[in-house]
Amino acid sequence: GAAELGPYRHYMQKEIFEQPRAIADTLEGIEGVNPEIFGAGATAVFKDVRQVLILACGTSYYAGSTAKYWLESVARIPTSVEIASEYRYRDSVPDPHTLVVTISQSGETADTIAALKHARSLGMEQTLTICNVATSAMVRECRFAFLTHAGVEIGVASTKAFTTQLVGLFLLTLSLAKVRGQLSAGQEAEHVRQLRHLPAAVQAVLALEPQVIAWSEEFASKENALFLGRGLHYPVALEGALKLKEISYIHAEAYPAGELKHGPLALVTAAMPVVTVAPNDQLLEKLKSNLQEVRARGGELFVFADGDTRIASAPGTHVIRMPEHYGVLSPILHVVPLQLLAYHTACARGTDVDKPRNLAKSVTVE
Ligand code: G6P
Repeated sequence: GAAELGPYRHYMQKEIFEQPRAIADTLEGIEGVNPEIFGAGATAVFKDVRQVLILACGTSYYAGSTAKYWLESVARIPTSVEIASEYRYRDSVPDPHTLVVTISQSGETADTIAALKHARSLGMEQTLTICNVATSAMVRECRFAFLTHAGVEIGVASTKAFTTQLVGLFLLTLSLAKVRGQLSAGQEAEHVRQLRHLPAAVQAVLALEPQVIAWSEEFASKENALFLGRGLHYPVALEGALKLKEISYIHAEAYPAGELKHGPLALVTAAMPVVTVAPNDQLLEKLKSNLQEVRARGGELFVFADGDTRIASAPGTHVIRMPEHYGVLSPILHVVPLQLLAYHTACARGTDVDKPRNLAKSVTVE
């Protein structure tokens, strides 16, 4: 009830602001990289597997899509990510040396459980879940488990479950990297230090809320929006578009920015806001030229830019500066203002934020 909401208007807003605490709780007790946090015997299994297969739905699928970048670049292990409802009905080529990873807030999503069982029926016995509910079917079904400590998530649109899933997936990446000889002691210490600083870093991003509210007032009158990201931040763009469509009912889609000219550029007019995730990474210069393509067609840019990107506000280009660039963990920071943008836009449109029409928190039927 209202008492539990404290100063917040909705559970979604409360849950967005709980993220520093949720991440800290998820990291509690973790001092270094130890595969056995996933369960006894994980070290031997992690040494033996040749690839990772991630299965999930919805926002959890976008957490998995982000993890693919980490697993391939940091742990150097081939990774595929599949939407559970597709994988379970598709002919695929199984390899018994696969680590099957399911990601689920509830641990009860019917398609994800069915996809897990399907993978097992194909001879893939090594199963691991990143899950928020200790007593769930998913945790019972999987050999290994990492519990996110997001706490109960009530808002249908997932927020703190997503960022804590990313923390769990990064720990999985580091564990696989370590047992496979891809992680020096120095790199391990640096990654762990960055993880431990995350709650403070997310807190600093939450302080951007007033600037995001100012944008949301303009967004509330739109019927379409395009989200752009590249590389590691493409799944964050997808998640930002999903949040906006789920709760504000504005049609939104996400594209990897390099793909603009193969279709979505045809949609760009002055009536099309283009939200862009702009971290200061190796794709920055490419992204900037993509943004020029949008401006040249009159599209209005809303850019979440890291401090040193030299992307400046100008007519038709609005910029919110992110407090710090965060290397490979940057998606965990960049998703937060997109959650806030969806939330405040939905509030401005007066929708039922915590219970959007036609959607359920947990989809336990096919
Ligand atoms: C529903 C929820 C989403 C969630 C998805 C997967 O669609 O509304 O927020 O991402 O299910 O749920 P899971 O519990 O498996 O993460």
